[in-house]
Amino acid sequence: MTDIITLDGPSSSGKGTIAKELSKKLNFFHLESGLLYRTVAKLILDKNINANEIDAKTINSFDLDCLIDVDRRRLVASSDIYTSELSLLTSRIATLKVVRDFIMGFQRSLGIRYDLIADGRDMGTVVFKDAKLKLYVDAPIAIRAERRYNQLKGIEKNVNLAQVFSDLVSRDKRDSSRTIAPLAVPLEAIIIDTSVMSVEQSVTRILLEYKKDS
Ligand code: DC
Repeated sequence: MTDIITLDGPSSSGKGTIAKELSKKLNFFHLESGLLYRTVAKLILDKNINANEIDAKTINSFDLDCLIDVDRRRLVASSDIYTSELSLLTSRIATLKVVRDFIMGFQRSLGIRYDLIADGRDMGTVVFKDAKLKLYVDAPIAIRAERRYNQLKGIEKNVNLAQVFSDLVSRDKRDSSRTIAPLAVPLEAIIIDTSVMSVEQSVTRILLEYKKDS
């Protein structure tokens, strides 16, 4: 049996950074589910597929195993999946059942092969309901917008904080109100607020919780 720790939470809450640190400390595989959704969106874009018409046969032909870096225990993808344009398309295709089912199958297959730190919006609520430990990582939207702004400044020209803020508001709304796997706090999750706890403090707290249960 593998051990799975889930970190759910909204965009730019810090869950990815915490997950990366945890996976290093525990030597668990880091399943970054946003990377999978973004990579699938990129494939749809590159292959000129109409997102509204995507079917199971087409999506099942996508190879996600090639993203696995076994030695570094993480998934790899190109850096151009983090642009604003692709973020928007990703958020749209993430509402499609056919896409979510395909990605869920891949995520669960990883969970059979490796001990996991799984970060993403539906890790504890849907994909790994029986996870050993569940966290919900959050921070006020103004703080998350500033983090996203600083991240985007490095990869795009003409970034505007007000625009980043309003994009985040619509993305939060879409992620929380969609019918399939909406962003929500898993019932038994411990809440980590990254506006009051540093990454280091968060990791220490989570490791304590994990060891308590082991
Ligand atoms: O975490 P991120 O910003 O890289 O995620 C990009 C998009 O992918 C986000 O708009 C919603 C979607 N996503 C999802 O629906 N479920 C996940 N588990 C992870 C990401």
